[in-house]
Amino acid sequence: MRILFLTRSFNSLTQRLHVELAARGHEVSIEFDIADSVTEEAVALYAPDLVIAPFLKRAIPESVWRNVLCLIVHPGIVGDRGACALDWAIVNGEREWGVTVLQAEAEMDAGPVWASETFAMRAEASKSSLYRNEVTEAALRAVLVALDRVAAGDHVPQPPQVGTPEVRGIARPPMKQADRALDWQRHSTDQLLARLHAADGVPGVLDPLFGEPAYLFDAHRGAPVDAAPGTLVARCHGAVQVATRDGSLWIGHGRRAPRAADDIQFKLPATQVFPAQTANLPETDGYPEIRYEAHGIGDERIGVLHFAFYNGAMSTAQCERLLAAYQEALRQPSRVLVLAGGPDFFSNGIHLNVIEAAASPADESWRNINAIDDVCEAVINTTDRLVIAALQGNAGAGGVFMALGADAVWARPAVILNPHYKNMGNLYGSEYWTYTLPRRVKRAGGSAAQARQVMDNRLPLSAAQARTHGLVDAVFGADRVAFMAETIARAQRLAASADHDALVRDKMKRRERDEAERPLAAYRADELARMRRNFYGFDSSYHIARTYFVQKTPPSWTPRHLALHRTPNNTEPKAAA
Ligand code: COA
Repeated sequence: MRILFLTRSFNSLTQRLHVELAARGHEVSIEFDIADSVTEEAVALYAPDLVIAPFLKRAIPESVWRNVLCLIVHPGIVGDRGACALDWAIVNGEREWGVTVLQAEAEMDAGPVWASETFAMRAEASKSSLYRNEVTEAALRAVLVALDRVAAGDHVPQPPQVGTPEVRGIARPPMKQADRALDWQRHSTDQLLARLHAADGVPGVLDPLFGEPAYLFDAHRGAPVDAAPGTLVARCHGAVQVATRDGSLWIGHGRRAPRAADDIQFKLPATQVFPAQTANLPETDGYPEIRYEAHGIGDERIGVLHFAFYNGAMSTAQCERLLAAYQEALRQPSRVLVLAGGPDFFSNGIHLNVIEAAASPADESWRNINAIDDVCEAVINTTDRLVIAALQGNAGAGGVFMALGADAVWARPAVILNPHYKNMGNLYGSEYWTYTLPRRVKRAGGSAAQARQVMDNRLPLSAAQARTHGLVDAVFGADRVAFMAETIARAQRLAASADHDALVRDKMKRRERDEAERPLAAYRADELARMRRNFYGFDSSYHIARTYFVQKTPPSWTPRHLALHRTPNNTEPKAAA
């Protein structure tokens, strides 16, 4: 089918549907929801068989849904309506939630249902984590069912019978900040956590915790402390520990409330948002960012290094901490070291928000890229054991190339990779990609041109597609828990296998050969010379793209590589929309 995605942005759910539908032979073009007239034009130019709206905040214009079948992906159970479906589901403690694919009609989220899927709500999961995992999986299943029904042509979708025992969903109002408000004196840690999780990553909970209003994000349960509820008690790197009535919470990130319409604030580590209020807090452990685990005994000994950086973004300080943790991990007696990233993201490269907030974003970009390169260099130069990158979550830009430095990359089937930098203002990229990528693509039977294509096409890849390009070596695991369990089992088998020592020896020899042919430092110097131009040169595209990204400036057009219907020679409507 020719399918037009009408979406607010090319977010993770939209990317996943895009790769999965394309893999099933559908042709998918994308139009961002910018204005009704632009949507009408896209439908006229593309003449799609149907429109799918994976992530939409506004109604589809009547001129479109009256003429083309439009399916809305709603992150709620059948009958649920409203823009804060997941937020309410978390705050209300729903045990089971769902995704409904319904036909667009005059009333938002009230049209006939084409398909619906349910899932168990994960305990203590944030909204964004549920969205990237359970919701995305259920949405894919429901969209595939709906497409089968559309193709069969004999399905008559029915409007939800709201109020009947089978239909539990109801219309819910938008969740206002008053609904989200935290009462540090009365609420239990569970209640506070549910409210904070229901607002992560957008819009956050507005709270005067730091003496002035700010949106709070990235909450985690902490150890009990002896202090009045609502008191700031400690800090750990960028996060702050707050006493609660029956325990404590870590708040990792915050965003100052804007003081005027043109005062644009963005998310940063909490201690950076409120340096004065947090400067004198004692530094302690407890914010769960980097963690090392040892598994197995004897020849089966492996180490797993977890680095769950919020949103997968890695600032200079985080890269430095990761490098120190990596070096410490190498001092442990393991035969295989697994780099596990975080549960939601493996890594998304340098920390664009922290860079944006720096006095000199160019200088901070330079420091950050060097710090992440130091991590990559340590991974590539590990020749005394095998290193596995285990992608539980998505990876983007430098985060993908960091993984490629490992001896093998394993990924969960649901993982999406964005192995390119160009979307960030034509950034050249570093992380030794010029060393690792061509070698991997060649090993998978590809050419140098194909390696270039991976970088140039600017599109996401599923784990399976990444495997055909040689970026990923194995794809397995029904879900994250199964993936990590199998990763540990596979890594232990590898550690204990008869081949292990030979593999390590081969790797050392290969590295020596490569180094003699062209030193790793030369790859880095060349990449960084290009990056220096991106950061300090007269072309400010990277700085502009970064500012737009961090400030979440709504797009004013759909990029050409996504909007297949907007090729230069396709200017005539294909059908009357
Ligand atoms: N630095 C800072 N924040 C980042 C980030 C980065 N490198 N990458 C992602 N984020 C943040 C987003 O701003 C968003 O924040 P929010 O919670 O406030 O909404 C969150 O992570 C999730 O990102 P989003 O874009 O919504 O996720 P996605 O899964 O839909 O898209 C990417 C994934 C990788 C395509 C997209 O995040 C991206 O392009 N990131 C930038 C990658 C990059 O250019 N890195 C620098 C070069 S190494």
